[in-house]
Amino acid sequence: MMLVRTFFLLLACWTATGAAWSADNGQRNYERQCARCHGLTGVPVTPQTPNLAMRERMNKPDLMLLQYLKMPTATHPSFFGILNDQEILDVIRYLRVMRP
Ligand code: HEC
Repeated sequence: MMLVRTFFLLLACWTATGAAWSADNGQRNYERQCARCHGLTGVPVTPQTPNLAMRERMNKPDLMLLQYLKMPTATHPSFFGILNDQEILDVIRYLRVMRP
């Protein structure tokens, strides 16, 4: 019985740290992969780049942005093979809360 309780306690801790890590991961991957164009705070540093801090062009569902970020276009790099779906969704979640 004691062993079972310890197991659930460990599971609860593991889940909690997992969730926290995932939020940090969104910011970390944003800084590594996106900041060189979109700026550290979402205020763009390259021309023709939407201001993500002002939520420019972000009025669409997460899954549409996920598709956009996986598909190479003439104007945007693809992150397919660089970040997995979960990592891209974590970055999108970070975009939705970042402030200039
Ligand atoms: C090489 C520079 C560059 C990098 C790196 C880059 N972006 Fe972009 N991003 C752009 C430009 C330029 C546009 C506007 C493209 C256009 O008008 O077609 C854009 C557009 C966007 C949009 C608008 C999407 C839409 O549907 O219109 C989002 C969201 C976005 N980027 C997020 C990201 C994220 C998240 C990353 C990192 C994972 C990233 N970008 C990396 C330059 C970049």
